[in-house]
Order: sequence, then structure tokens, then C-alpha cells
Amino acid sequence: MGFLLKGAHVVDPALGIDDVLDVRIENDRIVEVGSELAASDGAELLDFSGKYLVPGLVDMHVHLRDPGQEYKEDIESGTRAAAKGGFTGVCSMPNTDPVTDTGSVVSYILARAAEVGHCRVYPSGAMTHGLGGEALSEMGDMVERGVVAFTDDGRGIQGAGMVRTCMDYGKMFDKVFMSHCQDESLVGAGQINEGPVSTKLGLAPWPAEGEEIQIARDIDMARLTGAKLHIQHITTERGLNLVRAAKQEGLPVTCEVTPHHLLLCDEDIDRTYDTNLKVNPPLRTKADLAALRAGLVDGTVDALVTDHAPHAAWEKAREFALAPFGMTGIETSLALMLTHFVKPGIIGFDRLVELMSIVPRRILGIKQVQIAPGSLADITVFDPTVVWTVGADGYESKSSNCAFHGRELTGRATDVFVGGAMSLREGSIV
Ligand code: DOR
Ligand code: ZN
Repeated sequence: MGFLLKGAHVVDPALGIDDVLDVRIENDRIVEVGSELAASDGAELLDFSGKYLVPGLVDMHVHLRDPGQEYKEDIESGTRAAAKGGFTGVCSMPNTDPVTDTGSVVSYILARAAEVGHCRVYPSGAMTHGLGGEALSEMGDMVERGVVAFTDDGRGIQGAGMVRTCMDYGKMFDKVFMSHCQDESLVGAGQINEGPVSTKLGLAPWPAEGEEIQIARDIDMARLTGAKLHIQHITTERGLNLVRAAKQEGLPVTCEVTPHHLLLCDEDIDRTYDTNLKVNPPLRTKADLAALRAGLVDGTVDALVTDHAPHAAWEKAREFALAPFGMTGIETSLALMLTHFVKPGIIGFDRLVELMSIVPRRILGIKQVQIAPGSLADITVFDPTVVWTVGADGYESKSSNCAFHGRELTGRATDVFVGGAMSLREGSIV
């Protein structure tokens, strides 16, 4: 079994490749990369001229909702949506039911992914029992079963002492600690960013400081303990400056942004009270958006993630204050980045690959994939010119709480290989 992929524009910044090349796949590996490769017996020839071929994309922040909230998403539908979006792997978040805080839940996720998954699943495990912020999760047990990272995502850990305990104990496993930063004493029932818009709309304010205080604190805890820290879905200029300073100090601190925090701001929330714009942390100000974009370009931002957070239609159809936080994103993130950042020349294809493929693997400690002989054949192919409308042909996700519904985008994944097998072919799930 094998494929000969002809004539794609290959971009792999780790190898300095930016050229039209052929790629040969046998079984689960890339076996040859070069020009004018000849077809071999039994290999299927795929013409990828005009398309881009890159090391498989990884989204390191995805809510698969399984176990426990399968009416929103499950491992089959979530990984199907991921493949449709061009991803070969996702890191699942632990706010499942039961919470992913023991080895047995991790084993369930991996077994289910092996059975029905359309891409790889790299599970994260909770830092604290039940995401309660008070007692350690079963970290060692979860590492044995295959977690790649620890996080209490969905909630911030309220006590600095608890963060320290998690890091002091857990750092022996050499995994990254990923922080959802939210000081509940400041944020309370906050709905949207605190500012003129929250006042005008009469929605409870979620202040920037509620996020920044925990970013600063967790950087301090990383310095104190020597643990690796990753700040999740960063949204503010001051928060990014804290990460920038930590990097300058030489601390092992990284951060991620989402397309929605790069492209939408609080002013996009208007008197329609569209609950698909209700996310945690909230959409911030225009100035924050500009700062995040600058960080994307200058390298302060390490990874691009979606925080894909599916919710049922009836949950989002409630009053703003009662609707849950979160929007879907995994089927639109590559296209949004191509449309709004690569096409206008703000970043190049090489930087896109760093943000969506290479650095997420590095942060999670997953072996790199390269467009080179011997590498695992996890590959994303996309057409950077195809124009399409978000949601026009539905979604693969079980949920459709997509804030970009109806937008016209340019560029889309067409083919995805996971371990040499196709999970997306000409835009359709295999
Ligand atoms: O908007 C969000 N939704 N932010 C989170 O941190 C959690 C997520 C969810 O689980 O729905
Ligand atoms: Zn979060």
C-alpha cells in the first residue's frame, strides 16, 4: 500500500523546504521526497499540483466532550471535524464527565480514538481532582496511560499554593502545565470583556485583570518550581507582555492564541446578543487584538489553537447570561488563518506551519513529523485559493455554534493523511 503525491508545493520550515516536490508514502511512512519521482507498483498516484503540502496540523486545545457530553460532540464527530479542518491530531481537554483526572478515563479516550477516530488524539489530564482546584489529580497514573500535558482548562486554579503543589509534584513527569487563567474573585459571573461595551449592553463584566493576574502568578510559579508553563488562549496585550518578559528572562513559558481572539473583539458583540460570541476568556478590545496580531508575527505567540468548544443549539439559544461559553472552530481555523493572515502577507506559509504544526508538537513533547524519508506520514494538503462559505454545506461537528457562520473564506484543507492512511480525500471524510 502506498501513495505517490505529485507536484504539491511543500513547505517544511524545520528542513528549510519551500518548493514544488513529489512525496512517496509507503505504509505509515514517507519514504522518498524529490522531483519527478516515478510511480511504483501498487502505489496510487495523486496529483496535488496547485496545492500546499505540510507536516500534519495539530490543534493543541480541543474540547471533544467525550466521555459525558456526547450530545455536544464525541470522539468520532470531533476528530471527523478535525480531519475536515485539516488536522492530523488534537489535544483533548479534560473537562469531560467524568473529568479526565484518572488513568482509566485517559485509557477510555485513547481506546475510543483508536476505534473511531479520524485523527490522532493526544489527551491532556486535569491538574486537580475533578477540576476542583483543591487536590492533585492522579498524574502518574495518567502519564502511564498516555497524557501529554496537564491542565484544568475550563477553570483557573484559584490558589497559588495549589499551582505550586501541582508543579512541584508533577514536574518529575516532564510534561507541560497549561493554564486557563481566570481569577474567579475578579471575574465572578462576568459575561464579556469589561469596558464600554459591557456597560452599554448591560452584561456583567469579565475584566482583563482576571486573566492577567493568573498569567503573572503562573509565570512566578514556573520560575519557583522549574516547571514548563503554557498559557492557554491568551487575549490581552498586558498578558502577552508578561509572556514576552518571561521568555526574555529565559523561563520555559509559551502561549497560544485562537483565531477568534485574533479576528473578533468586544465591539462585534451588539444588540443581537449573539451567544456564539460568548467565549471564555472573552473577546477583548481592538487594541488587544492588534497586540495579539503583532505577537503572532514577532514570535511571542507560539501556537495557534481553536479552543473548539461545541455546545448544543438549545444551550446557545438562551439569554446571553445563561448560554455556555465557547464556539466551535476546528473546521474553520486553517481557512481563517489563510484568508486573514497568509493571503494578505501578514505571515508566510512557513510561519503558519510553525504555529499550527511544529510548535504545538514541541510544546506537547510529541515527536515531530517532517516531509522527509523516515518520518511518520501525518500530512496536511490544502488548496490556498478555493473560495467557500462557512457552514454552507453544514458541519462535521455535532454542534454548529460557529461565530464565523456565513463568512466567505479563501483556502481549505483538501486531503489529510494520518500514518499514511487518508482521513480526508478531496475535501470529503474517508
Ligand atoms: O469558551 C470556552 N469554552 N472556554 C473554556 O475555557 C471552556 C470551553 C468549554 O468547555 O466550553
Ligand atoms: Zn480555557
